[in-house]
This record gives sequence, C-alpha cells and structure tokens, in this order.
Amino acid sequence: MKTVVALLTEVFSAGFKKAGYDYDYGKVSLSSRQDLCQYQCSGALAAARIYKKAPFEIAENVVSMIEGEFNVEIVKPGFININLKESLIVDYLNQMMCDARLGYTLDVKPKMVIVDYGGPNVAKPLHVGHLRAAIIGESIKRINKFVGNDVIGDIHLGDWGLQIGIVIHELKCRQPDLPYFSQNEIFPSEAPFTIEELSEIYPFGSKKSKENEKYLNAAREITAKLQEGHPGYIALWQHIARISKVDLESNYKKLNVEFDLWNGESHSMPAISKVIDILKSKDLIEANQGALIVHVEETGDKRPMPPFILLKSDGAALYSTTDLATIYQRMDEYGPDEIIYVVDKRQELHFEQVFRCAKKAEIAPTTTEMNFIGFGTMNGKDGKPFKTREGGIMKLEDLIHMLRDSVKDKVIHGRDDYDETLVDDIAIKVGLAALKYGDLINHSTKNYVFDLDRFANFEGKTGPYIQYSIVRMKSILNKANCYDKKIVEAKSPTELNIHLKIIEFNQMIHLAYLDKSPSKICEYAFELSNLFNRFYHETKILTEENESQKNAWLSLLNLMIMILETCLDLLGIDSLEKM
Ligand code: ARG
Repeated sequence: MKTVVALLTEVFSAGFKKAGYDYDYGKVSLSSRQDLCQYQCSGALAAARIYKKAPFEIAENVVSMIEGEFNVEIVKPGFININLKESLIVDYLNQMMCDARLGYTLDVKPKMVIVDYGGPNVAKPLHVGHLRAAIIGESIKRINKFVGNDVIGDIHLGDWGLQIGIVIHELKCRQPDLPYFSQNEIFPSEAPFTIEELSEIYPFGSKKSKENEKYLNAAREITAKLQEGHPGYIALWQHIARISKVDLESNYKKLNVEFDLWNGESHSMPAISKVIDILKSKDLIEANQGALIVHVEETGDKRPMPPFILLKSDGAALYSTTDLATIYQRMDEYGPDEIIYVVDKRQELHFEQVFRCAKKAEIAPTTTEMNFIGFGTMNGKDGKPFKTREGGIMKLEDLIHMLRDSVKDKVIHGRDDYDETLVDDIAIKVGLAALKYGDLINHSTKNYVFDLDRFANFEGKTGPYIQYSIVRMKSILNKANCYDKKIVEAKSPTELNIHLKIIEFNQMIHLAYLDKSPSKICEYAFELSNLFNRFYHETKILTEENESQKNAWLSLLNLMIMILETCLDLLGIDSLEKM
C-alpha cells in the first residue's frame, strides 16, 4: 500500500501538471498544524516565484484540476489544506488490518544490508557499556528487516587484540606448566579456566599491564606470536573465544538481541594479505617509521585527517586492519548495498578513515554505502558515565536484576493470582522495556541520563506505558465475543484522531528507516497509546448495544494492538498478555 502522503502527492502532482506547472510542486506532507487540517501542500508558493503569478491563483488552478476522496481549502497566500473523507480513511484502515506488514511497502528495490553492532570483546563480561550498541543496533536491524531489506546482523567480536595477549600472559604467570606454553602440538580439549575465572583473569591482567611496562611488553609479544600462529596460543585463544561466546550468547539472549553472524576480528585474518596486495598494487601504501600507512585526507577536509595505519612496525594487525579486511570479506561473501556500524561515537574518526581507505582502494565500490551510527554515553544522575553505587562498572546481569526488582512491586500490586515465575518473567520484560525505550527515545548521538524511576513509570513516555496500553486493549478483547473485523467511521474527535494516527504509521516507519531513527517509533507509539487511553475513558466499548458498532471498536483495538506490538518489536521490546 502507498502511504497516504504518497497517494495525495500523486494526485496533487498530476494536478500541478494538468494546470500547466511542474509536476514536482505537488508534494504533500502531514500538516504541521493539525488543528487546521490533516495534510497540506505548499507547492503553489514555490511555483509562484518561478511562474511569476500569485500563489493563490496557482493553487486555484491546481485545485480545479483535481478530484478525490478529500476536501481542500485554499488559504492565503496560497496554501492548500487537505482533509481526508472518512471513506478513504476507513478503507485504508481496513486494508492495513488485513496485512501482516500493516500495508507497508518499500517503493524501491530491497537492499542487502549488514548491520555491525554489539562488538563486545571476548574474555570480558558484558556490562552497561555494551548496552547501547546492542539496543540501538538491534532496532536498526529489525527496522531494516521490516521494510523488506535482506539483513544480516554481525556481532564483530573483539577477539584478536591485546586483551587476548593479556589473558594468555596472566595465565602463563599463574600456571607456567600448562602444555600450551611448551613446544607441544597436542592440547587438551577442555579449557584450563571457567568463564568465572576468565572474568577475573582479564581485569586483573589489564590492571597490571597499565602499572607494569614489562608485563605489558610480554603481553604484546604474546599477541604478536598469536597472530603469527603460535600453536599453543592459538589453542588457548580458541578456548577463550569459545567459552566467552557461550556466555555472550546467553547474555544477549536475555536482552532479546540475536545476531545472524558471530564473526570476530580474527575472522578477517585470511583477508589481510589480500587487502595489503590491493593497496600495494594501487600504489597507495607508504612506509613510515617501519609502519605501513595510507593517506586518506581529501581536499575540503574541515578537520585533520591522520593517515590510516595499516600495519604496525612489528607487523601486527591493528583494529583498523581487521576492519578494512572485514569489508573486503563482506563484499566478497555478501556484496552488501549498505553496511551500518553502530558503535560508540568516539570511534567516528576511525570509521571515517576505514571508509575512505576502502573506497580509495576500491575494496568497496562507490555504490556500497557505509554508514556510521555513533552513540553517546548512558550517564548516571550525576551526569557521569553510569556506575554502580560503589563506583564500579555494572555487569549486564546485575543491571537486569536491578531492572526486574524495580518494577516487581508494581507488577505484583493487587495480583495474588500471579506465581513467582510469572512475576519474574513479567518484571524482566517490563524492566527491559523501561531501559530500551528510555534509551531509544533519545537521538543516538546524545548522552542520556539513566533514570530508572522515570523510565519504569507506567504513565508517561515510557516503554511500560506502551506495554500497559496493549495489555488493557487485550483484556477488553478477551472479554468480548467473537466479531467480524470491520472498522467503520469515527464517532468522536478522539476516535478520528486515532484513525488519522494509524494511517500515519507507514509514513512514520519509512522516515524511521530512512533516518535510522528508532526514536520516531518511540514517539509514535506513545502518541497512539495516549489516544487509545483517552478513547478508553470516553467510550463504553463492552456495553455498547449496537453490535456492529461494538465490533467496529473491537476491530479498531485489534488494529491498534497490531500496530503497537509491531512498534515494540521494532524496538526489541516484548509485548505482554498481562501485567
Ligand atoms: N570491539 C570494539 C570495541 O570494543 C567495537 C567493535 C565495533 N565494530 C567494528 N567493526 N569495529 O570498541
């Protein structure tokens, strides 16, 4: 189905053309003054300058050429105000209701899109610093899938850097007799550590490497040997990666985040030499104090653009090397039309360098878009990055428990019929809704304050409010008898506003997709929930005596549930049956 804006734009563009003006003046948009009209076209004003005529006259010419299921009014100096006839609205709603995608259709060819998000480093437990990448990335991925693109989400694990060297070195200090450190070639299949031990070893070693240069150098040396293929280190690295993955998988699952690919930086190793060959053949590499660099500055740069470092002087691959090689592999395997990176905004320069290098060397064609979505920090109420009460970094699991406990009382309230497991399940879903909605409603580049009391409120612009509105609708439907699904004309201004909000859905999704902006979905879901709650207080649905009117209202609730559940799903939030 076309969006209503597109339908009207077609009609008005044709009108402009028929009246002798350029077709492109016929753009229609949602009215910025909903109190005056529903949609508007201001093309006559722009046309007036070109055709040297009064805008009002142009608008009159155009309006005399068109006809449709809407009323128009021309207001000075030449705006065309448009209000839809109920027949069009009701028709549109009934069509949306019969379509699993609620009538959304992509008006261009679907794209192949890779979303690179998550990006945790192995050997470290997931903590709040990983949240935004997961929450925003998951939503961007789901939006792309919903509109019909072919999408792959790749976690791009940090599994090849110094942190592995640190873990191995620390292990060597503690257990020098392990077979991995001798000339052995055969190693045990069991890891010499558990995930709990690993979670202790890394921070311990990391702290030590910052205090002790000798320790750091030893870890670096191990990293270089690992990258050269030292068999014992490779075997240990495999243990680290495998054990971490199991833990990460279960943690992301709790967050409702799922990746299609679990590739890591290490996965790109085989492509590194190919990438270097390409750069060499194009004469783009320069040796600089033993390192290999590529100049990526461009005329017109408004900020300094340092060269891209391809290889360090010791020959070790860097974060930039693996990112470039990963692009090569992705092009080779999937030929994406777009790669979207959802990463901390402090890495923007790094990605700008990587993208430029990839384009310059034609590792990615100019037709492949590479986009960076940088996010800000989740802060505590003190305005500093969110910490535990003791000042430490909060582990993801602890955060989830905190969220659950903070909403538990509200869930149990007056509900003796809920057992413990049900309460926990509901509380976790509500808690995560609070967190995710509180995050996604912000523009991703902004820092935001994690304010649990506000986020978890059942009233206001929050995830739980939307969940609660849906539960309320479902409970009405559950009490009603079966009915024909058919929506009819609105009987009140609130109901008409609901109709208008619903037909905006496709346009809203399209904009959220184009702008990569889940916050638009958050705002929309809030507005629709608000309208529903007003309607609920104004209308006695279940006691309505006219059966077909009652059915129409129930059908409307049904459509609202479909829409709000879709919105929540696109935000990675679960909908509930009861709360
Ligand atoms: N592991 C990285 C970090 O912790 C994030 C990875 C982002 N993705 C990428 N392709 N570089 O900072």
